[in-house]
Amino acid sequence: MKFGVSSEQIEESLNQLFSAIFLEQRKIDQIRPAQEEKKELMHKLIQEYAELKGTALIYDYMASGRGHGPFTELLDGSVKMNLIGSMGVNLLGHSHPLYIKAHLEAATSDTFTCGNLLSYPDALEFSRNLIRAVSGSRLKHFWYACSGSMANDTALKMIWQKMAPKRKIIAFERAFAGRTIAQQNVTHNKAYSEGMPELIDVFHLPYFDLNDPAQATEKTLKTLNELYAKEGDTFAALTIELIQGEAGFIWGTREYYKAIFDWAKSKGILIWVDEIQTFARTENLFAFQMFGLEEYVDVVTIGKALQICGTLYTHEMNPKPGLIGGTFNASLASIKVANKILHFLLEGPFYGKEGRMATLGQEFIKRFAQLKTKKIHTARGIGAMVSFEVGDSSAENTKKFLKRLFENGIIAYSAGKNPTRIRFLLPIALTPEHIENAFVILEKTAEEVL
Ligand SMILES: Cc1ncc(COP(=O)(O)O)c(C=O)c1O
Repeated sequence: MKFGVSSEQIEESLNQLFSAIFLEQRKIDQIRPAQEEKKELMHKLIQEYAELKGTALIYDYMASGRGHGPFTELLDGSVKMNLIGSMGVNLLGHSHPLYIKAHLEAATSDTFTCGNLLSYPDALEFSRNLIRAVSGSRLKHFWYACSGSMANDTALKMIWQKMAPKRKIIAFERAFAGRTIAQQNVTHNKAYSEGMPELIDVFHLPYFDLNDPAQATEKTLKTLNELYAKEGDTFAALTIELIQGEAGFIWGTREYYKAIFDWAKSKGILIWVDEIQTFARTENLFAFQMFGLEEYVDVVTIGKALQICGTLYTHEMNPKPGLIGGTFNASLASIKVANKILHFLLEGPFYGKEGRMATLGQEFIKRFAQLKTKKIHTARGIGAMVSFEVGDSSAENTKKFLKRLFENGIIAYSAGKNPTRIRFLLPIALTPEHIENAFVILEKTAEEVL
């Protein structure tokens, strides 16, 4: 079925445009330094943008709109390797053919944004395919959101309505749930909510103890039981990232999660899994599938790599009319690309023990182990999510390293504190040659700054 306007001429023009855009974008294919004459221009624009935002940009990075695979060009003419995928968004890499196609197809339609009063078949198709992809679970519904944080807010509202008057939430230390008024309370790091009231009763418990994995389950169950003994039957849900992003990727075992979830179920507490960062990056489309936890999940949130966000929930969690709403679902181009990404990922060689997500992470861990320098250490990772520490793992030295790494051509991001780690949210477009080059730059950067 064709949507939007269509004719032979349009089809032909779109095909020509697609090829022309793709061929141009493909020219951005390696790291390169800035051009002297463009440096000043980018610097000025960044200064102005920082002034308008009222805060400095994370990096001196303003994109030119040109990029391909792991590479992104800046307005100063430099090209960087984007190993943080713009905070996990570019799992497929820059200017992926599916991105270009989705944009062009969206241009043949009559509006920009799908909404609750403007349903398009694309939005239906995505919901249908996503629900099919979680067929082993009890998840039956999907609600679009404009950000990961809003998807989590939708989850929380459904949970509260279902569980009223129980309100309390169990979360874990180092959790990150987003920036809305509710999610800043679920987020563990209080530096992200300075001066904000604690509006929600969220109890942060120690997570899976990497240093004592044998006792981890017992320890967490003990704290859960202590909490329950103190607070009583007042909890609505337990929220969890199965692989914690802000912690620099910490995850437990199936047995660990099973024990926690069994405990929660035995108390009638709902399970809300935040997959906003993990979605599509593990051995399965969802991390809860990788850990074999399908039977437990009541609400799951997604975002980032799909270019759209939203909340999946069971039939029992379906809220009463009026609770959830909103003008927008997402832009038509985003929904179109979400459909294409989902299809591409599920049909391609990406999942399973030998799939691209698993092997890409393993390749990085292997390379970290082969590094000659001892200044880069403690690497760990799962799927297309990898992290490591540098030098004394202090926030200060890690920041210095990241800044120089950026100057040397690689974009990464930090995670957590004590220790501060460095995070890669890897694009699957990386070739062995790119990876080789990345490790040369990592080693060089370590020698320069540490
Ligand atoms: C685990 C997790 N939850 C929620 C969010 C919030 O998503 P967004 O930034 O799209 O609001 C993020 C974003 O980094 C995240 O990693």
